[in-house]
Amino acid sequence: MHEEPVLQVRNLRKQFGPGCRECGQMDNRQLEKNYCTNCGTVYACQDISLDLYPGEILGIVGESGSGKSTLMQCLYFDAEVSSGEAYIKDPKLEGKNVFDLSSQQKRYIRNHSYGMVYQNPVHGLKMNFSSVGNIAEKQIAAGNRNVADMEATSKKLLESVHIPLHRMKEEPQNFSGGMQQRVQIAKALSNNPPVLFLDEVTTGLDLSVQANVLDLIKTIQRELGISMLVVSHDLAVIRMLADRTVVMLNGAIIEEGLTDQILEDPQHEYTQQLVYSLL
Ligand SMILES: Nc1ncnc2c1ncn2[C@@H]1O[C@H](COP(=O)(O)OP(=O)(O)OP(=O)(O)O)[C@@H](O)[C@H]1O
Ligand SMILES: [Mg+2]
Ligand SMILES: [Zn+2]
Repeated sequence: MHEEPVLQVRNLRKQFGPGCRECGQMDNRQLEKNYCTNCGTVYACQDISLDLYPGEILGIVGESGSGKSTLMQCLYFDAEVSSGEAYIKDPKLEGKNVFDLSSQQKRYIRNHSYGMVYQNPVHGLKMNFSSVGNIAEKQIAAGNRNVADMEATSKKLLESVHIPLHRMKEEPQNFSGGMQQRVQIAKALSNNPPVLFLDEVTTGLDLSVQANVLDLIKTIQRELGISMLVVSHDLAVIRMLADRTVVMLNGAIIEEGLTDQILEDPQHEYTQQLVYSLL
């Protein structure tokens, strides 16, 4: 690929806890998975680097606790990184590590360049606001002040995620899990973000609803050409969606490549297990 990435991540680290003599040294730390048994520090993300290219879906797969959500939260500025860099394709931010920006600048990036669909819809939606109000909130944050225009966009988005318009004034707390995820997707798309983060978007949904949501994501990606980072512990979901895939284990990337290649010829023992369990 010759195009410039929309998002470049370099050596991202996130630890919970202060570390100690036993675990302080990256090269020779002895951990129980991601956990220092001596001081209790969790190394949730260890030296993550990746590139997200225009219009691609990059999958991140790994078992529960491997650090996927932590990575997403760091990228979306919900959590502070311990160290590392990220660069986004924006003429005003060229060469600037976005983790070093002011909170105001980070908010600007969130509002204008990013969309996020959280693993738990409670984090992405105000459950006692109307659905259309949730979407408007994001549009206002992105600088929109035209009420008629916002309402038209909200309606279009809700339609595109198959929420019937007669229910648009309803609160997401009345909706099923699948509907809540679809409202989150509509909200995340409402500022036309070049980059969309999706964390376990179909986990916990029954299979037919899952298929629906996955179809919807594919369609959005095809029609809008948005770049997506899709996190799932389920390789079947990643297989459906991702052009390229990164495999995480214990906070580190252990394998990456074209999704087809990883499925056909997994290199790491853990990836091999994942792939064989699909068959
Ligand atoms: N606020 C926190 N304080 C301490 N440890 C945390 C915190 N948040 C996450 N962790 C730890 O970081 C590690 C990675 O968690 P994370 O939620 O990123 O995993 P995940 O890959 O998203 O898992 P799942 O598939 O279950 O969603 C886990 O060991 C978790 O216990
Ligand atoms: Mg998670
Ligand atoms: Zn320690």
